[in-house]
Amino acid sequence: MSDGAQLMPAAVTTSCLGLEEGAWDRFRTHWETLCADRYASEQGTRRLRRYGWFSFTAATAQLEPLPQVSFVQPENSNPLYVGVDRTFEPLTEPFMADPVFRAVLRLLGRLATALDDPPVWNAKVHPFRVIASADAEGLPTPEGLHRDGVTLVSSLLVGRQNAAGGESSVLDQDGTPLLTTPLREPGDLLIGDDRRTLHSVSPVRPVDRSRPAYRDVLVVTFAPA
Ligand SMILES: [Fe+2]
Repeated sequence: MSDGAQLMPAAVTTSCLGLEEGAWDRFRTHWETLCADRYASEQGTRRLRRYGWFSFTAATAQLEPLPQVSFVQPENSNPLYVGVDRTFEPLTEPFMADPVFRAVLRLLGRLATALDDPPVWNAKVHPFRVIASADAEGLPTPEGLHRDGVTLVSSLLVGRQNAAGGESSVLDQDGTPLLTTPLREPGDLLIGDDRRTLHSVSPVRPVDRSRPAYRDVLVVTFAPA
């Protein structure tokens, strides 16, 4: 990741994870059990989510769930929420036990360890569903261009249904675009070095305006513990 951001196409991610055909469809069923994000609704957008965090020991690739606490955006990051404690519904047990989830986290742990080498990482895990309709576009990042105050930031596309837009962009600290990608296929994975980049996602709109649009992603960040 020499220039701060990279797209791993779905075919590469799927083969790195050793997944079989149909694995993404099955994994996506966890997105049917997300809960409303009331903080996003205050910004006028519909978003469903859950949240959990883990420790990841680099040497052994061991993952341990950490006790649920409210999520606080680090200083010098997301301007909408710095200093605001946000409480989200926890990840479900079936999600945390899912071999696809655990394989994704270990892959991201290896990628984070290529950027820095703390003995233990904190991985924060946010499955999101952004919903759009004909009269309300969906805003994946209502805060606009931002950083998350971590080392590695990643977005894995898990599914799209009737959704146009939702393009992810990564810029360097001077605002020069490094990469823009629609994240179209389940398994498309965008990773960024959050220490030297900013990111945002464009609004989501329905293709068929008579039905809602869904954009389902798994956002995971890694920061030294
Ligand atoms: Fe972010």
